[in-house]
Amino acid sequence: MLHKIGVLTSGGDAPGMNCAIRAVVRAGLRFGLEVYGINDGYRGLVEDDMVKMDRSSVSRIVNRGGTILRTARLREFKEESVRQKAVDNLRRRGIEALVVIGGDGSYMGAKKLTEMGINCVGLPGTIDNDIASTDYTIGFDTCLNTIIESVDKIRDTTESHERCAIIEVMGNHCGDLALFSGIAEGAEMIITPDHPVPEEEVIRELIALKASKRAMAMIIVCEKIYPNIHEFAERIGQATGFETKAEVLGRVQRGGTPSGFDRVLAARMGAYAVDCLLEGKGGICVGMVNNKIVDYDIYEALQLPRDKHASMLRLINILNK
Ligand code: F6P
Repeated sequence: MLHKIGVLTSGGDAPGMNCAIRAVVRAGLRFGLEVYGINDGYRGLVEDDMVKMDRSSVSRIVNRGGTILRTARLREFKEESVRQKAVDNLRRRGIEALVVIGGDGSYMGAKKLTEMGINCVGLPGTIDNDIASTDYTIGFDTCLNTIIESVDKIRDTTESHERCAIIEVMGNHCGDLALFSGIAEGAEMIITPDHPVPEEEVIRELIALKASKRAMAMIIVCEKIYPNIHEFAERIGQATGFETKAEVLGRVQRGGTPSGFDRVLAARMGAYAVDCLLEGKGGICVGMVNNKIVDYDIYEALQLPRDKHASMLRLINILNK
């Protein structure tokens, strides 16, 4: 019988992580478990920085961005000796199982801990939507809406000045934030790892736009495609005659009040994770597929091909040109 569980957040923070923490704590308490909050991701396990949570520890956090447990990326957690310290600390406290809220990097740590005897369940907490075992990650929807709000504002000034705006959004190596925001904005061009556009084509299309007297253009680009987006904008400006400005939205995308969608997703997934631990499951991650909450073995999940949204990529050609 399970008695004590822990919960931590790891990797880049994402709006909705607090809702997931709350769901784990409240569901755990409801089913008679003691629940510990672990600070600073895996570092808190290694440094034994954890606190017992009660209902009030997670009161009034549903609308807060970030994570009340804070987060970290602990590269050393790949080393077995470092993980052993974590396991020793958990055993000393009698904590038998964990919920790990984070991206795919954090999932690997969860799998390895399970193999060392601590059952772990992973929840997909990242703005990037780069986890194949779920249709949506916690934080993606809020981030998408933040991008749309910012790009709407950039559009106003871009139109007024008849400029070209090249807007770089986050996503790590996954183009979903760029693709979804580009479709939502009707951007003239969307450039992602799944939809690369050669520089000559960008230039050709912009010259055609200028000739057709559509004297403004919005281009949304996934980060990590161009080493320096400002230099890219400079080249585009010189080649097309468009006054071109690069905008890097940056970490404003990661903060803010979580959307209704992210809050509900986090609540469903958090409660499901506790059910899994109570059933004695570990080494798995939770996802939402076709609106059902499901779980996968972490190794299997990390092998799944990511949905490249072929139907949305097609929309770029139909609607945005
Ligand atoms: O994984 C989330 C994410 O925001 C990515 O989109 C981005 O590339 C990265 O984290 C930035 O991380 P940091 O804030 O640690 O530089």
